[in-house]
Formats: sequence, structure tokens, C-alpha cells
Amino acid sequence: MLPVQIIAQKRDGCELSDDVIAAFVRGYSNGQIPDYQMAAFSMAVFLNGMTSSETVALTQAMLASGERLFWPDDGILRVDKHSTGGIGDKVSLPLVPLLASCGFEVPMVSGRGLGPTGGTLDKLESIAGFRTNLSLDEIRKIVKQTGCVITGASAELAPADHRFYALRDVTATVPSIPLITASIMSKKLAESPDALVMDVKFGSGAFMKTRDEALNLARSLVQTGQRMNVATTALLTDMSQPLGVLCGNSVEVEESLDVLQGRGPSDVRELILELAAELLVTAGVCRCNQDGKQLTAQKLDDGSAMERFEMLVAAQSGDLGTRRPFAPAAEVTSEQSGIVSAIDTQAIGWSIIAMGGGRQKLSDQIDHSVGIEMLVRVGDTVTSGQPLMRMFTRNPDRFRPELRGSITLSDHASPPVLIADRIAGESI
Ligand code: URA
Repeated sequence: MLPVQIIAQKRDGCELSDDVIAAFVRGYSNGQIPDYQMAAFSMAVFLNGMTSSETVALTQAMLASGERLFWPDDGILRVDKHSTGGIGDKVSLPLVPLLASCGFEVPMVSGRGLGPTGGTLDKLESIAGFRTNLSLDEIRKIVKQTGCVITGASAELAPADHRFYALRDVTATVPSIPLITASIMSKKLAESPDALVMDVKFGSGAFMKTRDEALNLARSLVQTGQRMNVATTALLTDMSQPLGVLCGNSVEVEESLDVLQGRGPSDVRELILELAAELLVTAGVCRCNQDGKQLTAQKLDDGSAMERFEMLVAAQSGDLGTRRPFAPAAEVTSEQSGIVSAIDTQAIGWSIIAMGGGRQKLSDQIDHSVGIEMLVRVGDTVTSGQPLMRMFTRNPDRFRPELRGSITLSDHASPPVLIADRIAGESI
């Protein structure tokens, strides 16, 4: 079938076979199918969706566009987590070494900031010397040595996604559940994991604004992982307010170090323990969620996870001993009294980007020193003049009004639930 016939079939809502999808992605990867035909195909998928079989075939085809990490048959279980991203989401930094301290190997391929959300790699690069551009050989070597790694997707892993994502970005076709699923899962499955947990966020600071949208994405991710023989579950988690207290790059490394020493904000710790327990139960290491949380809490509190993090940082050429940069602090105070009923979390994310903490265009250099410290949460009572946030920026007057405006005060509030749902095979 010619590329134009395949596009026409998808435009008319027909289901495409696995072979047709594989041939289309192969043609795109080897340059035979030009960007404009791939753009038309993605718009047809955006408008008509894909069945679960088509989504699996697209994921498989994108996975086959590159190499995979292969592991020895040594009985060690490889696991990973993916988050759809949010403001203050520094979970990967403590979670990866924590999982390694529980006996897993964790070859995490991670990303940079997307829209208003921060990226794990950008946060880690605020540690002096930390390398995130490892080759496949380096990934394998570091995982063997330390049990874990956090690196960027090298050109070898799912390269089709790299080009396809850039094309979707400029053709308004990013928010399509099958396209997001194939993009995320092709990268994660290239790690050849035994089990995956997906943290699908919803709320004002998330990619998915509503719980229903997040549920649909979570179901698609879990179904695709399972149909590709990787035990996959998902948690639906709240992003209607920043996760933890500190948001930015250097500041999130500080909060992660706190969590790794058994301290830190309770929501960050709770989410980490839940995600780790999810993997321990899925992989059959623990019998139940409670046992998983008990084991992982102990590894945070006794320093085992911190020790792994130090090994990971050293193996990736980072130096935790060099002081990380922090911009001067200034407060944002409330002009009224009331109860915090909503937080425009996305607006906080955009302010951090505008301070220089993220990229507005691909070539931008990140200023790791800027960020925000949240001093209130939904449900807190505040009085006029009380500090709402602390900004780390050299230009506080520019950001004060918009940050103040991101907090809504009313006479009542319902604090959100952090873990709203769990999606596993049986619940799809
Ligand atoms: N993150 C990804 O990696 N891909 C998408 O399509 C969306 C979010």
C-alpha cells in the first residue's frame, strides 16, 4: 500500500494492520516517507484515534526503529517508572536509587522539561559535572556497578520517536492518547524492563487536566505494556498543587537529598513509597503494598537509598560536594485573608521557566539557580501579609504579581487526595 493510501485509510477511520503500521514507521525512519506525510498521518490518528491493537503495533514499530538494552539472564529484575510530568515532580531522583537499594536494577531513560513541567535531566545537571548523555555501553556498565542510572534517550533508543515528537509538537498533535502511549512506551520498552509503573498525573499542573483524561491515558499505557509482555501498572496522582515544597532545578536536588535522608515533605515521600511498593508487588518481591512500603521506608531511613544515589552521581561524573547555585530569595505575601482553595500550578511552572529555570526554545541554557518554595498548600488558612511563596530569582518584582495570582483564596477548600486511583490489568 502506498503511504497516501495508508493515510487515507486512517483518515476514513479504518483499522490498520500491524504490517501496514510497521511499514509506515519504517518508511519514515529511513527517510522514504517525508515529514508532511507523517504529519498527515498523525493528524488522522489525532482525529480518529487508534484501537488498542494499532497502538501496540505503533509502539512496536517505534521501538524497532532503534536498539534496545539487553540484559544477562542472571535473575536480577529490571524495573522503571515513568511520570507524565508535573511541577515539583522530583520523584525519580530518590526513587531510582531506592529501587536499586531493594535489589532491582533501574536503567532509567529520562527526559527534559516539557511545557511548564521540569525535566529530571535538567535537575540532575544542576549537580556539578553530572553527565546525562551516556552511551548504551556506559548505561550497561554503570547499571552493573551501581544498580541504577538516569540518562537521556541516546540516539540509538527509539530514534523514530525523537523526530516524530518534534513533528507532533509543531502540528498540534501531541495530545493524542495513542501517540503519547507509543512515544512513552517505545522509549521505556527499549530499556527491556521486567516491570514498569506509570505515574499519570492530573490537575492544574499536569499534561492531563482531568481525572478522566488521565484515566484513559493510564489504561492505554498499562494495556500496551501488558500486551508487550511487560508487567505494567499505573497510579493516577494529583497535580492540582506542586509536589513537595521546592520547584526548580538546584532546589529540587536539595529536596530529593532530604527525602533520601528520611526527611522531606510527606507527599513526596508518600508518592515515592507507593510507586516503589507498586513495583515490589508487581515484580513479586513483596506480597502486598504494605510490605513494600515498609521495606522502602526502611531503605530511605537507614541511608541505603542515599548511598546508592551517591554511587549513581559519582558514576555519572557528578560532584555532590560542590555547592549548587541558588538565586537570592524574596517572598510573595498574601494581600487578603482566606483559605487556599486552588493553586494554578501550571502558572507557577511557567513563572519558573520565565525566570530561566526551563527552556522557551530548544537552544536556551537553563539557569539552575532559580525556583520557588511553596509556603502554603490547598486547605491552609492564610492571613493578609502572610508569605505564600519564596522566589529564588534576581528579578522578584517581575514575578511577584503572577505568583500571587496563582493562589486562590475562598472561605472553604477541599484538599486533594494524592493517589486517586490504581490501574492494573484487572481494572482496565
Ligand atoms: N511525553 C513523551 O515522551 N511523549 C509524548 O508524546 C508526550 C509526553
